[in-house]
Amino acid sequence: MMTICTLAILALMLLVDSSLEETPETSVKQWQTDGCDAFADIVLIIDSSDSGRKDNKKLNTILRFSADLTDTFKLGVDYAQIAAVVYSNTTQKQLDLIQITDHAQLRKAILGLTSFNGSDEAKPYHGLDLIADMFRPDLGGRYNAGKIAVLIMAKASDIPDYTRNSAKRLQDQGVAVLVVAVGKPLWQEPVIAESNSKDVFLVEKLGDLSKVRDRITSRICEGRIKLSNFTTKNPHDLK
Ligand SMILES: *[C@@H]1O[C@H](CO)[C@@H](O)[C@H](O)[C@H]1NC(C)=O
Ligand SMILES: *[C@@H]1O[C@H](CO)[C@@H](O)[C@H](O)[C@H]1NC(C)=O
Ligand SMILES: *[C@@H]1O[C@H](CO)[C@@H](O)[C@H](O)[C@H]1NC(C)=O
Repeated sequence: MMTICTLAILALMLLVDSSLEETPETSVKQWQTDGCDAFADIVLIIDSSDSGRKDNKKLNTILRFSADLTDTFKLGVDYAQIAAVVYSNTTQKQLDLIQITDHAQLRKAILGLTSFNGSDEAKPYHGLDLIADMFRPDLGGRYNAGKIAVLIMAKASDIPDYTRNSAKRLQDQGVAVLVVAVGKPLWQEPVIAESNSKDVFLVEKLGDLSKVRDRITSRICEGRIKLSNFTTKNPHDLK
């Protein structure tokens, strides 16, 4: 009697256990329904290469994806703050962390980012190098907030090693670098091949970007990114 009972309980525990394991993939997450609580300073680094003389279809697709990505986050000083830079052969900051706490406004701002004379060359390291400075408190950076860079690349770097080195420098400063790579030729870039695979999101074409959106958001919103304390060369800047 005792044994049967124990067995039954064990079987029940196994059932519960396996159903728990399956839920993460199928169930709707709290952040999907109520918004994401992440306390994070997030900078989008957006590839605007090939947008110079040609039409802006490529850039517009990336911007729409970027705007969609921000929709899930609760915005404000207690939640997420989002900034953006664009790059091609050079880079430009176009949105600071401190600026926007309203979803509609943020969407509009992101969709309105410009290619900044987007050339055919892609030098993402210029974008990566620019952003450490954007976490400064006077620009909205918060001492205890997670620091996250989302690099969206749609073209191979002209010098891939530079991109890896710049990403590494940011990581050493305590910034989590998530990389979205569009197009198979990019997947062999050192920054992608050597990154923590969970922080890398690969798609074959621009039209597939929406497929990785939830995975990126869940990575940030479920606190699974390894965050360390952010440091700059002048730690007193952070006080
Ligand atoms: C760069 O873009 C600015 C603003 O869109 C424009 O005024 C300027 O003429 C452009 N420069 C070049 C070299 O294309
Ligand atoms: C970037 O490319 C644009 C357009 O081809 C060009 O006008 C500009 O001088 C280039 N800038 C740099 C820094 O190479
Ligand atoms: C960040 O620094 C604080 C204070 O020095 C420390 O308590 C905390 O553990 C650090 N967090 C990480 C993730 O290193």
